[in-house]
Amino acid sequence: MPVDFEVALAAVQADPRYRTNIRFGQPRSGHPEGSIAAHILTLEANLEQIRSRIDPAVEARLRFAIHVHDTFKPEATASKGVRDHGELARDFAAEFVDDPDLLNLLELHDEPYRLWRDWVHTGSLDVERLSRLADRIVDWDQYLAFVILDSWTAGKDLEKLRWFIRSALAIRPSAINVDWLPAYIFQNHLFEIEPASLTGFFEGWPSPPSSEAHLRILTGSDRVWLARVPETGRVAGFITALTDGVLSAYIPLLEVLPEHRGRGLGGLLTRVMLADLSDLYMVDLVCDAELQPFYTRQGFRAGQAMSVRRYDRIP
Ligand SMILES: CC(C)(COP(=O)(O)OP(=O)(O)OC[C@H]1O[C@@H](n2cnc3c(N)ncnc32)[C@H](O)[C@@H]1OP(=O)(O)O)[C@@H](O)C(=O)NCCC(=O)NCCS
Repeated sequence: MPVDFEVALAAVQADPRYRTNIRFGQPRSGHPEGSIAAHILTLEANLEQIRSRIDPAVEARLRFAIHVHDTFKPEATASKGVRDHGELARDFAAEFVDDPDLLNLLELHDEPYRLWRDWVHTGSLDVERLSRLADRIVDWDQYLAFVILDSWTAGKDLEKLRWFIRSALAIRPSAINVDWLPAYIFQNHLFEIEPASLTGFFEGWPSPPSSEAHLRILTGSDRVWLARVPETGRVAGFITALTDGVLSAYIPLLEVLPEHRGRGLGGLLTRVMLADLSDLYMVDLVCDAELQPFYTRQGFRAGQAMSVRRYDRIP
């Protein structure tokens, strides 16, 4: 009987090992997003960006892999790497799904990184190792799609990803190639963000905050999600939230630059922020009536709001 990956993912998300482990992780080299939970949200945003190109069954398998692949890093770290976190993820996933190829993907998801590291040290690609990988994976398209999702994050060398995809295609053909890289990189932090990355926002405001003030707004917010254009590093859209961390959150700002609108970016930023705040009872925002259908599509319900605005206090 085929595995229902949505049911399996719901069981994973309810599992205490998953719920504890995803909180692990501080911002560090290669992972400025910090926690495994933030890494998962980033990859979910990547998956949403390519989902129109993939079969729903593959999408469900990739989403399952997104939630499991790094979840046992804390235990691998605690055991001083006696067992690789990919192997631990494989063992955990095997409790929920019977899909040998997906289990192989989980076990071997960091092979591209290892191949790249060896290449940097030795100056040559370990073709045998790459061939062994290509032999063990049945669905090469699915594997390469996952590699893209897992590597398309701030703080990782995107040339490494392009190098791996080119090398992988030379060993074994696939429908996946570098054209599949998502349009935007999502991040929940301010790594490599400076005022110059933030121009063009607050469109239509009589006296818009400066880019420096914009950066201070992002720094002072409890949560931010940015969508960046990889080629330029510029921010194309952002969303902020303030929260007490216990019960409630408020979303003061969401904006997408005019030239990036109408492609789903505003909706995706909103959904990622809602997912980031998913442990909280209430999430509120204030918007003009014309935007209510947009927010309704993201899961909000219309209500009444009261507000004070002091235009002379905009920095
Ligand atoms: C609202 C906003 C973030 C949407 O970003 P986006 O990337 O275009 O969002 P999506 O592509 O996911 O959705 C676009 C849909 O939003 C709706 N929408 C966006 N702005 C709208 C507006 N001013 N009035 C009515 N509907 C609007 C439309 O239905 C639009 O669909 P269309 O592209 O078919 O016309 C963007 O328009 C923006 O930055 N506006 C200015 C700032 C703003 O109003 N922020 C919200 C503060 S509460």
